[in-house]
Amino acid sequence: MQSELPALNEQLFDHNFKGDIDPYELFDKWLVLASEKEPIANAMSLATADKDGLPDTRIVLLKERADNGFTFYTNTQSVKGDELAANPKAALGFFWKSLNWQVRIRGNVVSVSDEVANAYYKTRPLGSRIGAHASDQSRPLETKQELMDRVAKYETQFGEDVPRPAHWSGYTIEPIEIEFWCDGEFRLHDRIRFTRENTNQSWTRQRLFP
Ligand SMILES: Cc1cc2nc3c(=O)[nH]c(=O)nc-3n(C[C@H](O)[C@H](O)[C@H](O)COP(=O)(O)O)c2cc1C
Repeated sequence: MQSELPALNEQLFDHNFKGDIDPYELFDKWLVLASEKEPIANAMSLATADKDGLPDTRIVLLKERADNGFTFYTNTQSVKGDELAANPKAALGFFWKSLNWQVRIRGNVVSVSDEVANAYYKTRPLGSRIGAHASDQSRPLETKQELMDRVAKYETQFGEDVPRPAHWSGYTIEPIEIEFWCDGEFRLHDRIRFTRENTNQSWTRQRLFP
C-alpha cells in the first residue's frame, strides 16, 4: 500500500491531474508513513469551543479512522465533553515532525454507538479500564494519593472484569474540510484543501497559497 503514496502525492500536487482523490485514503497513507517514523503519529490536537465561543485545545489519540470520520475516546464528562455537548463541532490537527507534514480537519462531531465504544473499551489494558473509572477527568484533584486510592477501590470492586463506565466513550469528527500541507523550500509550502458542504456530498479539491 505504501508504495502507492508517492504516486498519490504526485497527483495531489499536480494541477493538471483532474481525477478524484479520496482524502480518507490519502490520510490513511500519510498516517501509515508517519507511524513508521514516529512513536505516536496518531496524536492529534483537538480544538473545541466552549458555550461562549472561547477556543480550547488539547492532544488526544486517533483510535479509528472510521467510515464516517476520525474517532477518539475520552471521558464525556470532561471539559472537552462539556464543550462538545454545547457545540458539537471540532477541528483536528496532525503535525508529523519527521516528515514536516500537517493535516487539518474540521467538522461536526457525533458520539459513537455503545456497541462501538464497548468493543474498543474491551481492547484496552486493565489499568486503562480501571483508570476510566478512577479519573474524574478535568475536575480538581487535591492530591495524587486520592487518585491512587480510587484506583485501588475500583481494582478491588471489579477485579479483572471492568465494565465500561457510561461516561467513557468515543466521538467521531465527521469532516467537511481536510487540508494536506507539505513543507516547501523558502516557506513555499504545498497546501491542498478538500471541502464539501455536508457529509453526503462529494469532495472539492483546491490548492491554497501557503
Ligand atoms: C500524547 C497524548 C495523548 C492523549 N490522548 C488522550 C485521549 O485519547 N483521550 C483523552 O481523553 N485524553 C488524552 N490526553 C490528555 C488530554 O490532552 C487532556 O489532558 C485530557 O483529555 C483533559 O482534557 P479536557 O480537560 O480539555 O477535557 C492525551 C494527552 C497526550 C499528551
